[in-house]
Amino acid sequence: MGSSTVSLLFFFLCFIITTRVYGQSESSLPAPVIPLANKSPYLNAWVAAANGSSPGAISPTFWTTQRQLGWAGFVRVDGQTFQWLGKGGTAAKALASYVTPTRSIFTMAAGSLEFNITFLSPIEPEDWNKQSFPFSYLYIDAKSSDSMPHTVQFYSDISGEWASSDNNNVVQWNTTDTGSSVFHQMQRTSMQSMVETKEMAEDGTVYYSMAKRSDMTWQTGTDTSLRGLFTGGLLLQNIQDTNFRSISTNRSVLAFAVDLGNITQTSTPLVWAIGVVRDPLVRYVKGTGVEVRSSYFRAKYDSINAALDDFLADFDNAKTRALTLDNKIMSDGAAVSTQYADLLAISLRQTMASIDITIGRDDNGKWNTSDVKIFMKDIGTGRRVNAVETLYASFPALLYLNSSFAGPLLEPLLEYQASSQYRNSYAAADLGSSYPDALGNNTDIPEFGVENCGDMLIMTYAHAQKSGDGSLVARYYDLLKKWADLLVTNALHTNGYTSADGQVGPDLSNLAIKGIAGIFAMSKISETVKKSDTVIYRNKATQLETDWEGIAYSSNYITTNYGVTSSWSLIYNLYAARLINLPVSDQLYKNQDAFYASQASTAPRFGFAYDTNDNGRAKSQWTIFTAGTTTNSTTRDLLVSMVHERAFYNASGNPFPTTYDSVTGRSIPLNGRASPAQGAMFSLLALNTPNKAITLAGPSSKGGPNVPAIVGAIIGVVVLIAIIGLAYFLWKRRQRRRSKWDYSEKGAAPFSISRKRTSVGVLDDNQPIEVTPYIVDAEAAAIAARQSSGTDSLYQNGYSKAREAQNGSKTYLLPGQRPGLSAAGSSYSGTSEGGGSSYYVPSTTSGVSSELRVEVEELRREMAEIRAQRLQDEPPPLYQDPPGSITSSSTQMREAAGVPVVGN
Ligand SMILES: *[C@@H]1O[C@H](CO)[C@@H](O)[C@H](O)[C@H]1NC(C)=O
Ligand SMILES: *[C@@H]1O[C@H](CO)[C@@H](O)[C@H](O)[C@H]1NC(C)=O
Ligand SMILES: *[C@@H]1O[C@H](CO)[C@@H](O)[C@H](O)[C@H]1NC(C)=O
Ligand SMILES: *[C@@H]1O[C@H](CO)[C@@H](O)[C@H](O)[C@H]1NC(C)=O
Ligand SMILES: *[C@@H]1O[C@H](CO)[C@@H](O)[C@H](O)[C@H]1NC(C)=O
Ligand SMILES: *[C@@H]1O[C@H](CO)[C@@H](O)[C@H](O)[C@H]1NC(C)=O
Ligand SMILES: *[C@@H]1O[C@H](CO)[C@@H](O)[C@H](O)[C@H]1NC(C)=O
Ligand SMILES: *[C@@H]1O[C@H](CO)[C@@H](O)[C@H](O)[C@H]1NC(C)=O
Repeated sequence: MGSSTVSLLFFFLCFIITTRVYGQSESSLPAPVIPLANKSPYLNAWVAAANGSSPGAISPTFWTTQRQLGWAGFVRVDGQTFQWLGKGGTAAKALASYVTPTRSIFTMAAGSLEFNITFLSPIEPEDWNKQSFPFSYLYIDAKSSDSMPHTVQFYSDISGEWASSDNNNVVQWNTTDTGSSVFHQMQRTSMQSMVETKEMAEDGTVYYSMAKRSDMTWQTGTDTSLRGLFTGGLLLQNIQDTNFRSISTNRSVLAFAVDLGNITQTSTPLVWAIGVVRDPLVRYVKGTGVEVRSSYFRAKYDSINAALDDFLADFDNAKTRALTLDNKIMSDGAAVSTQYADLLAISLRQTMASIDITIGRDDNGKWNTSDVKIFMKDIGTGRRVNAVETLYASFPALLYLNSSFAGPLLEPLLEYQASSQYRNSYAAADLGSSYPDALGNNTDIPEFGVENCGDMLIMTYAHAQKSGDGSLVARYYDLLKKWADLLVTNALHTNGYTSADGQVGPDLSNLAIKGIAGIFAMSKISETVKKSDTVIYRNKATQLETDWEGIAYSSNYITTNYGVTSSWSLIYNLYAARLINLPVSDQLYKNQDAFYASQASTAPRFGFAYDTNDNGRAKSQWTIFTAGTTTNSTTRDLLVSMVHERAFYNASGNPFPTTYDSVTGRSIPLNGRASPAQGAMFSLLALNTPNKAITLAGPSSKGGPNVPAIVGAIIGVVVLIAIIGLAYFLWKRRQRRRSKWDYSEKGAAPFSISRKRTSVGVLDDNQPIEVTPYIVDAEAAAIAARQSSGTDSLYQNGYSKAREAQNGSKTYLLPGQRPGLSAAGSSYSGTSEGGGSSYYVPSTTSGVSSELRVEVEELRREMAEIRAQRLQDEPPPLYQDPPGSITSSSTQMREAAGVPVVGN
């Protein structure tokens, strides 16, 4: 080996030793409200177990926290029964809890038994069959704490509360033995298709299942009788109760028990699968009609039985994939800071659980695998479908995980607005307000025009830029151009326009820079599609940006409204400028960094209000977007710590909300609890994801996205030699790490973390959720603004401007027309449609895991950490690693892992 190889090895080894100190694979603190099973808007279970409370003393609830979900777990150790999930019995002790992006883990003690309960909601960015399958795992590993054998049985059941919002509804159930697994199912006797009540589905079937094992028994019956059998030391009897009744009448439960006998530890985990299945999932406006759409996995599986068997059989691989993804995310996050990694761990499942990935049928009724659309419920705020400002906030997580998710989320918005069904000249705020109905909304509300046109242009371009899929920008060019033209007229002086946060008044600095970024996005779109107006839009955007810098400042910071020094905002829309590379002067970023830092000493406990005009309301998503605009790591960490303070606030009773009082932390009604907008937490990482060469036809169904080359070019063969040598060292190190997990030390720590500031003792659990009417913040603000006499003229102004834009638009569509690639109003181009018809939907990665691959990934991560560490002191290129760098996207990770990149 040459001396360079030796020194490289030496360098790695030194680094590996140092990384042990700050390696982080789980949250550093327990979350106050912990995700349990989170895979869809209707499979969304949590437990509020702050301060080391045992999950065996608290009922899990639906995300609203207003609906208890019967989900119980018991363990008998040497004849004594303890409860580890739900409440009513003698609770097992919780020694520790922590979260990772895909998992929530409780370390428990009962008698002489220690066990880990892990709730795993898989996140499968590379396999949409798996991602769309509305199921989560619960698994348990146990060992005796005194190394002696003990007699151990486990039991778990669920009740009918999962199948409806109303306990008076009658449910029916059934148990099926597929040969490889046993599953219980339960549903309303009279299901109501597409109906949700108090946020819960009235057309769902809940499943609880286990792979078959010789020591497992099952039964359905009343909760008292089955739990009584178990507590009395008897086995379940593998029989069904067929006396169907209402949920609350002699509460019927679906139960499993496993008799492990005398053990010192479990050899394989006990694994349950829980799911809520609906079919169809969504009704969507299509042309002049409405189509019903089903879950993506249906194209692969005709029956739920087969899908469920596969899900259970795939557990080991699913767990390996989850650990790999968790490790990647947490180490990417830890390269910023421990607190930042914590935010990634607590936010991702709630973002991914807000979406339904759907598939349509062709004219013959067959599944059309090219027809993929994704719908997002605006959980925590209302029932709006693909709510644009929420999608914009969640975008960083999607871009980071797999930017191909973004296309089918944008497409239904674009398709609807390009159709004759939509008549407004500006971008719509959503596809309607009654998830799971995505029927569109034509109501003329022009005041959000700048916000929504800006968001749509930025997102549509960002999707093309990060995924390489140019099919949307090609297909919807005319529509996007119409929106850009509205921005050209209205972005700099946003008079009459309102932000989605509800900020009103003339010349909103933050809204303006979003509009300008939207125009810049149009120039990039035009460049991509090779249109002649590229330069026009680019010049316009850069001119407006220069003008904006000239008037948005007062003394040394940007004010809420131009020239009004009494208020300021987090200028979070500069994040879009960074994402799509709109040139903004470095000095401006630096001044904002310094300004935010100068305000830190007077900031309330939970951070800056997103705008000083808004009664002290903080918004986590915009605070983290702002962190993404910083060039100074001190300011970045300050903003991260503000969000962290609320996310891990141990007096919270709600799933991580977006909007809360900056002084008390109290979350505000319509507060975005469990909101997908928390995907914003990935904003720092999304800036790191490489851009790709854009193909107008979109990725071919076989090819997948363009995966940039990695590593090789830099170190080449040398690194291969090093990897082989290092795999051994890494393996050794991991062995040490594993055995080093000091149960008592580490288990105790998370609960005894002392807060630097005194708690105000708010427990917002008892705040009732507002069910109706669902009003978006912005809409509420607009209504309020309309009602207040003084601002009426403002809206008149907004209206007339919007009208002008509409009348002036060359591409205003007449009923029956669809936008084409060439002239406005020309017939729709079949080529462009055909070309764009296939989305990259990657294939399964099952069976490809291996220890070596994990180690290689670990090595790559550590190299990334070296880089990140180095870069931390060298702003501004902090978040701008070149394409192909090793702080990679998941596709790179996949390629590095040797997983073939193929479609379908
Ligand atoms: C529980 O998890 C911790 C941390 O991963 C591990 O060290 C411990 O051995 C696990 N306990 C059991 C019983 O598997
Ligand atoms: C219960 O499932 C079995 C198959 O396991 C099926 O034959 C039976 O018809 C089902 N019963 C009801 C009431 O759905
Ligand atoms: C409920 O349980 C009680 C006591 O076991 C029994 O008398 C009653 O008939 C049950 N009701 C129904 C509807 O099953
Ligand atoms: C388990 O161990 C206990 C005590 O050592 C013993 O009494 C019992 O018979 C054993 N049970 C089984 C099933 O082996
Ligand atoms: C399948 O869906 C794509 C995308 O919506 C569409 O272009 C294509 O015509 C559909 N194919 C059939 C056979 O309906
Ligand atoms: C359309 O949007 C407006 C404003 O958000 C709302 O008041 C109205 O209920 C919506 N209509 C539908 C059908 O969703
Ligand atoms: C970053 O901000 C901190 C606090 O405002 C300041 O002390 C430091 O000098 C800044 N660092 C750079 C590189 O500008
Ligand atoms: C947890 O403990 C803190 C500090 O003692 C307290 O303020 C908070 O209310 C507790 N949380 C819950 C959910 O009881």
